[in-house]
Amino acid sequence: MSQSPHHAPASGGLQKLLETNSILMIVGILLLVSIGGIVEIVPLFYLKNTIEKVEGVRPYSPLELAGYNIYIREGCYVCHSQMIRPLRDEVERYGHYSLAAESMYDHPFQWGSKRTGPDIARVGGKYSNDWQRDHLRNPRAVVPPSIMPGYPFLAATPLKAEQIQQQMRLLRVVGVPYTDEQIENAGADLLAQSAPDAPGAAEVAARYPNAVSADSPSKTGPTEEDALVVYLQHLGVSVDFKLYDDKANVR
Ligand code: HEC
Repeated sequence: MSQSPHHAPASGGLQKLLETNSILMIVGILLLVSIGGIVEIVPLFYLKNTIEKVEGVRPYSPLELAGYNIYIREGCYVCHSQMIRPLRDEVERYGHYSLAAESMYDHPFQWGSKRTGPDIARVGGKYSNDWQRDHLRNPRAVVPPSIMPGYPFLAATPLKAEQIQQQMRLLRVVGVPYTDEQIENAGADLLAQSAPDAPGAAEVAARYPNAVSADSPSKTGPTEEDALVVYLQHLGVSVDFKLYDDKANVR
């Protein structure tokens, strides 16, 4: 009698074993996949940091941090992204594409995944504080066709910031380099950044380069709107891209 056509050749012994034993097959697959995983993941443990540090990026000032909290609370990220992708149309519309370092101190980051409104990663300095206030209170007052909701209550709500100092300490635990001095002076810096011509303004400027005063119109202390405005004014202004790109060109 001739050999059965289903008879496996001798070299196929291992293959046959695996194909007929599902447990061994699973173990084999796991083994194979973990080799791939190890090759990709282990080298990352030897890198100090996967995010390249970039000059100019600093932690938020206390008032900006309070604004960041309000941004999250109000769900602004539902309509706004904060990540300019390195595509020509984005760069032409919004400015230099976002660097990982620019959001390295955001916990959680606000990249977003939806753009009902425009990306606002570089909105800092694009408009005046007054424009931002008018726009937040009633977007249609400054952009008639806008579909953005108004947030007029922010201007009427005193800012509760008792926990800002604690939040700064907590952020330090996860790697945001707040100094003891910054944490100690959180309350004073918060007030100094909100009022116009506040006595502590020079200290705020020294501790937080590029920090913009809220020039609060409020006579009764900082409002939630003040915090949100200085947060918006800080978006995307940390890195001097002219310096950055010039350096790149020299190479
Ligand atoms: C329902 C979607 C929606 C929500 C929620 C929303 N926005 Fe907007 N936003 C828009 C749209 C649409 C525009 C573009 C029209 C305009 O300027 O009003 C816009 C524009 C802006 C601009 C001007 C951007 C530019 O470059 O001209 C800023 C700043 C802004 N929004 C901030 C915020 C903040 C802060 C919040 C949360 C308090 C928020 N938005 C919530 C839809 C939204």
